[in-house]
Amino acid sequence: MTETLEFTQQRSDRPKSAEERAAILANPGFGKHFTDHTAVVDYKVDADGSGGWSNARIEPYGPIMMDPAAAVLHYGQEIFEGLKAYQHDDGSVWTFRAEANAARLNTSARRLALPELPEETFIESLRQLVAADKAWVPTGDGEALYLRPFMIATEAFLGVRPAHEVSYRVIASPAGNYWGGELKPVSIWLSDRYSRAGEGGTGEAKCGGNYAASLAAQLEAEANGCQQVLFLDKFNDNAIEELGGMNVFFVFKDGSLVTPELNGHILHGVTRSSVIELAKDRGLDVQERKITIDEWRDGVAAGDITEAFACGTAAVITPIGELKADGWSIASPSAGSGEVAMSIRQELLGIQTGAVEDSRGWLT
Ligand code: COI
Repeated sequence: MTETLEFTQQRSDRPKSAEERAAILANPGFGKHFTDHTAVVDYKVDADGSGGWSNARIEPYGPIMMDPAAAVLHYGQEIFEGLKAYQHDDGSVWTFRAEANAARLNTSARRLALPELPEETFIESLRQLVAADKAWVPTGDGEALYLRPFMIATEAFLGVRPAHEVSYRVIASPAGNYWGGELKPVSIWLSDRYSRAGEGGTGEAKCGGNYAASLAAQLEAEANGCQQVLFLDKFNDNAIEELGGMNVFFVFKDGSLVTPELNGHILHGVTRSSVIELAKDRGLDVQERKITIDEWRDGVAAGDITEAFACGTAAVITPIGELKADGWSIASPSAGSGEVAMSIRQELLGIQTGAVEDSRGWLT
């Protein structure tokens, strides 16, 4: 039985002024601005080998004091989550499927040999931070307060073993469209030099290392005029895996919706699973299965694939336009603006913002 931790409160004595905050909320962008507070919980392994969480607190947002020998700085023992809080018309603020993020954090924790965090502490950390920084929740179309829980190994020790001191934290950032400006189809670069994940690796975990490893490919994408990179499984007929930070879906003319199956190296996206549920309820034939790059190319050429879209907490649902590779490309699918994608996006955002009834109990 875990003891529920009480969060102590230390409010910032230098919060941003109402004018500064309003200027940020008028054009939040993505991941550039941070609220006045942060939630923190410490973990320590005692001399007898037992570990425990303690010292749950809300404190002013600011730099983290850390020993230069902290394990996270050397061996990357780190995991994170991403979820959003939305303000409803009555002023109440709601997180979306936070229990799913709590569960995924613990799946990642097990893979990175970090301690699991009780679900109630995870939910309470979000509740406390959102309560402290409620004034920071943007209310524009498609905007929300992006919550970034993360866990880092803080023990100063250079031996390679799971750290005995760990810090769990949550920061919050008002967020608009991930790519900035109006929503437009994204262009994708196909990485054939780099892999994101492999059998038995960390692909299913949400750990910083996976994203660090995607950056060289992301640079290649940008050098080729694309916004995101697509990774394939080269050892499995060039099966489509995922983008640098998003899952992918394909809409077929025959009414099926296809997304790569969770094969142990694809991230269990919370938006991915929400899209699957919403699509099934609309009567679409949802198939979680292997789909190869050849099937994508031939499907678009034959007109069988009518839409492709990316999804994630940050990206919500964004239509995919052209895919470019070294010396060849796949044109934007026929319904380039993505009717099915945009309609599911509307429904999802409707549930999140309170405009559509939350019949599945997804909001907390
Ligand atoms: C998210 O969608 O929340 C992620 O963590 C992906 C990242 C590219 C922002």
